[in-house]
Amino acid sequence: MKVTLRIQRYNPERDTEPYYQEFIVEAGDDKERILDLLHQVKWKYDGTLTFRRSCAHGVCGSDGIRINGRNRLACSTLLRDVNYKKPIVIEPLPSIPIVKDLIVDMSDFYKKYEAVKPYLVNNSPPPEHERYQTNEDAEKLFESAKCILCACCTTSCPSSWSDENYIGPAALLKAYRFVFDTRDEAGDERLDVVDTPDGIWRCHTIFNCVEACPKEINLTWHISQLKKRLAEREM
Ligand code: SF4
Ligand code: SF4
Ligand code: FES
Repeated sequence: MKVTLRIQRYNPERDTEPYYQEFIVEAGDDKERILDLLHQVKWKYDGTLTFRRSCAHGVCGSDGIRINGRNRLACSTLLRDVNYKKPIVIEPLPSIPIVKDLIVDMSDFYKKYEAVKPYLVNNSPPPEHERYQTNEDAEKLFESAKCILCACCTTSCPSSWSDENYIGPAALLKAYRFVFDTRDEAGDERLDVVDTPDGIWRCHTIFNCVEACPKEINLTWHISQLKKRLAEREM
């Protein structure tokens, strides 16, 4: 069957603003992935179409884009997941500078991520074997550790749209990941980073981030746990 992709294009060296271009591609059935259709455009019709992808299996997080108005991974979205009877609108992630076509500039996203120290900090002398953790304590981290840094959550968040300095849900999730790690010793430093006007208190529990996350991480629950931890610290 034939499917139309309406793709946002933008080449900063040539264009003054983004515009849309339509391509008609061939799909075997409704289980085709959007990523494969983008490949078809690039390899058959226009080699200049620019987008990121690597693993093609929902692991690397590099192909977050907006499909019919919703942030998703191109490799994990099938035709049957979207309305393909009309042209499928493909755009870069919103509220983040475009580098070219579907590629966005992730530097600010990573800067905020780095601010929460996204690694284990433990300056105590190392034990003879590994630093142990109970299964129960490890389970508290599993969901937050599934994040693949695709930025679908942060770029779908109305608080991020209205305040470019808002740290965003992905960084808050990573803060949770280490604040609640029983082996870590820098929890207070991370709490200081998020306990600011542009930090965790900008989250108004609107749930866009949860809807956007391709890993089905309940970001608002994790953010609420961090808020609770901050409130306990004040007592
Ligand atoms: S719940 Fe918070 S972080 Fe998530 S979209 Fe809403 S305001 Fe943003
Ligand atoms: S929390 Fe989900 S949406 Fe946000 S960056 Fe991680 S995987 Fe992507
Ligand atoms: S290409 Fe790696 S997550 Fe989609």
